Amino acid sequence: MSHPLVIANWKMNIPSGGISGWIQNEMISSNDEVDFENKSSYFKFMGIAPPTSHLTELRNLFNFGFLGVQDISKYYDGAKTGDISADMVIEKGCSFSILGHSERREFYNETNSIVSEKLRVCLEKDIMPVVCIGESLEIYNAGKTLDILEIQLKEIFTSISTKKTAVIAYEPVWAIGSGKTPTTDEVNNIHQHIKDIVQSIANIEAVNVIYGGSVNCDNAKSFFQQTNIDGALIGGASLDGKDFLGIYNDFMETL
Ligand code: PGA
Repeated sequence: MSHPLVIANWKMNIPSGGISGWIQNEMISSNDEVDFENKSSYFKFMGIAPPTSHLTELRNLFNFGFLGVQDISKYYDGAKTGDISADMVIEKGCSFSILGHSERREFYNETNSIVSEKLRVCLEKDIMPVVCIGESLEIYNAGKTLDILEIQLKEIFTSISTKKTAVIAYEPVWAIGSGKTPTTDEVNNIHQHIKDIVQSIANIEAVNVIYGGSVNCDNAKSFFQQTNIDGALIGGASLDGKDFLGIYNDFMETL
């Protein structure tokens, strides 16, 4: 694993007034249980993707781990109302961007080809891409998950050549926010296939595959114990600082 990551995806949740509570009351104080010689080193595999409006405040209050965004513009600058560019998020201290989350695909019609354009921007600008792929319940039930993932990967990664690390988040759409998940063995196998496919279609120095979809305090460790699961992308359970820290601590124990 070149870059395992456990990422909190707050989506459009937590008002800015709630940030200090998330950190102070939950994360830092409950971290007293853990002996931190060096907090920076302990949090080096943690990523937090708050709403973009919260980036500065979050960084001021919690100067550990990686800051990221939930999406990024495929354009570099100029008249693109509503967009936020790679340079702008870098200025705010961000080092990764989630790309192609299923909610972007569902509500904003983001296609694999748009995700691929954003991937190229991230690689050029040195923002670590966290590319989301995943199948619908219908596809899963039809046993066609790998076919669909292969199509998504080909449309996004073909002809990408980079010495940088790419993170792929395997997120079955039916598992997001539903309380349902595939088995840990299924996810482990799928992650191996994802790594094989990407290696056959692109030239990328390192590919890490993390899992997302209803990861919580009770099931996180069983995912992290699998050899091909390099971390997690966490929505609902990341909204409570204490739960998220518990999941992160589980991850650190399995490294
Ligand atoms: P969830 O969301 O953890 O609430 O299922 C995951 C995600 O959307 O990335």
